[in-house]
Amino acid sequence: MTPIKSPGLFITFEGIDGAGKTTHIEATVAAFRAQGRVVCQTREPGGTPLAEKLRALVLNDAMDPLTEALLIFAARRDHLQQVIEPALSSGEVVVCDRFTDATFAYQGGGRGFDLPTLAALETMVQGARQPDATVWFDLDPAIAAARLADARLPDRFESQPLAFFQAVAEAYALRAQSSAGRFIRIDAAQARETVADAVMQALVSRGYLNDSARHGLKR
Ligand code: TYD
Repeated sequence: MTPIKSPGLFITFEGIDGAGKTTHIEATVAAFRAQGRVVCQTREPGGTPLAEKLRALVLNDAMDPLTEALLIFAARRDHLQQVIEPALSSGEVVVCDRFTDATFAYQGGGRGFDLPTLAALETMVQGARQPDATVWFDLDPAIAAARLADARLPDRFESQPLAFFQAVAEAYALRAQSSAGRFIRIDAAQARETVADAVMQALVSRGYLNDSARHGLKR
């Protein structure tokens, strides 16, 4: 399906839990704002009052894999209609912490849920809408697990065993292969400053940010 062109820019951030995307999302938002863009910073599941309620259910309550997938896509539908599409139509930069690639990775890879069903739900919920670019923090699940060990109380996903995250990481890699033009792979095992430079460099080389972003990095 041909992706939809809109005046705005839709950038998503992906990676397994512990890959360290959060600080780099903040820096990306700041860089776009510094260049005069209006940024809509949001996340999935979530981003609207209804979708945040669904997020709380999905992250905390036991449920079967189909229920989980349906709730995540229901949250996404509301988020797209209420927040993402209007922001893109008015020319904003939408920076979203996770999107449908996470569903293919976690529900598809991690939970082993049927991929054709996820693909059908994807089309039903978002039509041809896809991110313009996806910054993917690729990290060995064993390193991510070590980083997460000190983190706060784990949710239903963070508490999964290493094998779950290995399956999630493999599913991300497959998804990156099948949408190679959209994915920006970042080696998240590098030092934080190196990762920050790599993210800015990639956004500059795609023409989303002008070159000053590479010099304005806050450390
Ligand atoms: P995350 O994005 O890591 O946020 P935080 O670090 O603030 O907790 O948490 C969201 C969790 O939801 C993460 O473990 C992945 C999971 N998730 C899915 O399983 N499927 C999805 O489609 C999305 C968007 C997230």
